[in-house]
Amino acid sequence: MALRQIAHLPEPILRKKAKPITKFDKDLQTLIDDMIETMREAPGVGLAAPQVNIPLQLAVIEYAENEDEEEENEDAPPKPKKLYVLVNPEIIKVSEEKVLGVEGCLSIPGLIGEVQRHEAIQVKALNRHGQPVKLKVNGWMARIFQHEIDHLNGVLFTDRAAQVWKPSEEENEETPLD
Ligand code: NI
Repeated sequence: MALRQIAHLPEPILRKKAKPITKFDKDLQTLIDDMIETMREAPGVGLAAPQVNIPLQLAVIEYAENEDEEEENEDAPPKPKKLYVLVNPEIIKVSEEKVLGVEGCLSIPGLIGEVQRHEAIQVKALNRHGQPVKLKVNGWMARIFQHEIDHLNGVLFTDRAAQVWKPSEEENEETPLD
């Protein structure tokens, strides 16, 4: 495995629509493993292939569901993180309910913004071996999925944010990047 370099704005690849994946070969498996390693090292909660200069419809996501919710018991053990590999993902259903949340992006260092997202979505995708999967996610996980799928269409959170700003030190620590 190897770390990949993360593309930052204004790299044009971040604005291109990624191409569907048709070959589930060894090169793809290497790319997926490299992206997982790069995401963890950043650290980030998600990473899309265009962010590592590969124009393919692929994203990796790793996040502990409900991590954002207030824990009643602060000593409770942390929730386990869930890892998703999404190939050719497609949003097939969205909740009417939308929620505001503060997002940042590994490709846009030094800026965060408040973005409205669907609270819950259903996604159709292929897994890393090319098998079809259907996923239902909500809360922050749904936000990360929408952020990553946007990346595959050349859309960045700054396009959707009502306003963006430079994070304070505290906001910097609190905002997961993807
Ligand atoms: Ni991002």
